[in-house]
Amino acid sequence: EMTNAAPVSARRDLTQAPLLVAARGGAPSHVPVWFMRQAGRSLPEYREVRAGVPMLQACFTPELACEVTLQPVRRHGVDAAILFSDIVVPLAAAGVDLDIVPGTGPVVADPVRSAADVAALPALDPAQVEPVAQAVRLLVGELGQTPLIGFAGAPFTLASYLVEGGPSRHHERTKALMHSDPETWHALLDHLAGLTLEFLRVQVAAGVDALQLFDSWAGALSEADYRRFVLPHSRRVLSGLADAGVPLIHFGVGTGELLGAMREAGADVVGVDWRVPLDEAARRVGPGVALQGNLDPALLFAGWDVVEAEVRRIVEQGHAADGHIFNLGHGVMPETDPAVLTRVVELVHSLPVAPERE
Ligand code: CP3
Repeated sequence: EMTNAAPVSARRDLTQAPLLVAARGGAPSHVPVWFMRQAGRSLPEYREVRAGVPMLQACFTPELACEVTLQPVRRHGVDAAILFSDIVVPLAAAGVDLDIVPGTGPVVADPVRSAADVAALPALDPAQVEPVAQAVRLLVGELGQTPLIGFAGAPFTLASYLVEGGPSRHHERTKALMHSDPETWHALLDHLAGLTLEFLRVQVAAGVDALQLFDSWAGALSEADYRRFVLPHSRRVLSGLADAGVPLIHFGVGTGELLGAMREAGADVVGVDWRVPLDEAARRVGPGVALQGNLDPALLFAGWDVVEAEVRRIVEQGHAADGHIFNLGHGVMPETDPAVLTRVVELVHSLPVAPERE
C-alpha cells in the first residue's frame, strides 16, 4: 500500500522551520506566514513566465512549476513555498476531460451525475503525475531551509467541480446528488478519496514537508450533511497520511460551523477564513491542534493602517491556539499590490510569538 512512502533520508531536516514547529504546537522562533495563492497573477514575474502557457500545461512543466513556486519565496520572504499546481491536476492526469479557463476556473466536459458516470471515472496511476513529482524534487533542491507545502483538493470540493461541470455558486446539483442518491454519492467520494490519497503520497515520496487538503467549498454544507456525506471520505485521506511524517492542514471557506468536524477528520492544522476570530476558532477546534489564517484578503486593499491593525489583532488572538500559522482567510486576489504582502510578512515576523505554555 505505502509503496510511495519516502525514505526519511530523502527529506531535508527542517525540524526548526517555524512553519513545521507551529504546525506541531511548539514554540517557533517567529510567527510563520505564507499566503494561499501567493504564486499567481498578483506578481508581474508570474505573468511574465506564464504568458502564452495554458494553466494545465504550466502545471505539467516541472521547470516552470518550480520557478513559479519560488517567485513568492524570493520576493516576500514567506515561511513556506506552496507547490504551483491546481486541485484538478490529478483528475486531468488520470484522463478526465477538463480545462482551467482563465477568469472562470475548472470546466469539466462531461459532468458526473449518474452511477454509470462514477463507475467510468479513471483511477490515478502515479506515473501520470510524474511531472508533479519532478517539480517537487527540483524544489526540494532549491528551497534550502524553506518548507514546501504539497496539496490536493478534498473529495467534496473535487466532486462539486465534477458534478456541476464547473464553478458553482450554490452547488445545487451536488447537493441534489448526495441527498437523492447517497449510494452514488458515496461511490463518487470514495473514488475521489482514493485518487487524492494516491496523489498526495506521490508528493510526500518526492519530498514535500507538509500537506494542505483544500475543501474550499465545504462551507456550503450544514454540519449534519458535512458529517454524513463528506467527513468519512476526508478522514480516509487524512488518516491514510497519518504515517507520512508531515503535518496535515485542512482548509475551507465559510467553515466556521465545521471547524470542529474538520479537525476530527484528522488534521494537525485547521484553516480559518476571516469570519471567525482565531480565539473563538481555537475554542471550536479544541486543544492540540494549530490554526492557520485569518486575514481577509479584501482588506489588503484598505490601506496600510487597516492592514497593520488587522495583522496585530490576528497574531494576538492566534496566541489562544496551540500553534498559529499566519495566512489569509482565502487566496490572494490577482489585483493585490504585492508590496503590501511583503510588508505583512515583515510585520508578522516582528511581532511576539505566543508565550510558552505550562
Ligand atoms: O500559490 C498557491 O496557492 C498555489 C497554487 C494553487 C493554484 N490553485 C493555482 C491557480 C492552488 C493551491 C490552487 C488550488 C485551487 N484551485 C483551489 C483551492 C484553493 C482555493 O482557492 O480555494 C480551487 C478551488 C481551485 C480551482 C481553481 N483553479 C480556481 C477557482 C481558479 C481561478 C480561476 C481564475 O482564473 O480566476 C483556478 C485557476 C488557477 N489555479 C490559477 C492559479 C494561479 C489562475 C490561472 C492563471 O493564472 O492563469
